[in-house]
Amino acid sequence: PNMHSLLNLDEIEEVATKQVSKKCWAYYYSASDDLISKSFNNLVYKQILLRPRVFVDCTKCDTSTTLLGHKVGIPLYVSPAAMARLAHPAGERGIAQGISPFGALQVVSNNASMTPEQIVEGSLPGQIFGWQIYVQNDRSKSEAMLARINKMSDKYKFIVLTLDAPVPGKREHDEKTQEIGASLPVSSGVKTAEEPKRPGGGGVGQQLFWGTAADLTWKSTLQWLAKHTSMPIVLKGLQTHEDAYLAAQYAPQVKAIILSNHGGRALDTAPPAVHTLLEIRKYCPEVFSRIEVWVDGGIKRGTDVVKALCLGAKAVGVGRAALFGLGAGGVEGVERTFEILKAETETCMKLLGAEKISDLGLKHINTRAVE
Ligand code: FNR
Repeated sequence: PNMHSLLNLDEIEEVATKQVSKKCWAYYYSASDDLISKSFNNLVYKQILLRPRVFVDCTKCDTSTTLLGHKVGIPLYVSPAAMARLAHPAGERGIAQGISPFGALQVVSNNASMTPEQIVEGSLPGQIFGWQIYVQNDRSKSEAMLARINKMSDKYKFIVLTLDAPVPGKREHDEKTQEIGASLPVSSGVKTAEEPKRPGGGGVGQQLFWGTAADLTWKSTLQWLAKHTSMPIVLKGLQTHEDAYLAAQYAPQVKAIILSNHGGRALDTAPPAVHTLLEIRKYCPEVFSRIEVWVDGGIKRGTDVVKALCLGAKAVGVGRAALFGLGAGGVEGVERTFEILKAETETCMKLLGAEKISDLGLKHINTRAVE
């Protein structure tokens, strides 16, 4: 279908669902147990109300800002998600091409379906990537990949260390839909299709997690990372104010945290990022000035993006939306996804009476229903 006939992210997901393989859909759609966290992730934004101001000149609207010191066109990023080539042969590089007109960041998964070199090939000058690491039991594999990423420091500017999934959650849609085995697209260089298949595990998630370390700890892992990269570290998957506070103690090595429950794919009934944002505001608001706080999970509308920014998030990530965009229309599908998100974000800002990102704040929202 013509991507421009699709008006919102749900419509794009619907098209993608029809076009991608059953296995691809099951892997992307799936979340843990009863999908409570996954559905809350989105619902919680609907429960926050906006407080528009009138008589504000909104002829101009500027969505640009800075993330980790880099200028970006919009405070949106593509969350790291494995196996984009399950959806479309353009894969992770297609996502890079699709978002390139918008100046958004892309975090490349440890379990991507192309090498990190292939993904950034042909990207625009100044287009910025992060690389997400799942530390492997065989540390030498992760060290070798960090060395490769360090060599591409004109493209890869930060490392995202994912902490919320030392083991995969129980994703039943994924487990039930078999038929993948050897056809897993050959991947990032850390993981390969030849990886031993996890005995008894039907899911792509289970298979990809094979070999991932579950013994990470604050001090030892951050010290190990410091030995292998001088890039800023972003810790992903924090879900409590206590951990956000601890992370801020590791500044400046740690420059940002991502509040995330892994799109509901790790611990079911873990809190949506909005709850964690509210906790941090209450118990340790100084975190916001020491490190950047990013969020992901459940973003479907520009109003969702704006609400997260109003609560203090510096950046907002989309996982499934980028994958479904790719599945619906390849590069054009990703481009349309970001075009919609950007246009909706601008409309929301104008109707709120905000000219620029730094105007957005608590004064624009009513969070009573989620507190
Ligand atoms: C993910 N996510 C993820 N996170 C990560 O750190 N490394 C990874 O390899 C993956 N892989 C992955 C695959 C798929 C198919 C999905 C849907 C998600 C989690 C991802 O980064 C992000 O936290 C969520 O996707 C955000 O939620 P939404 O936007 O999908 O609702």
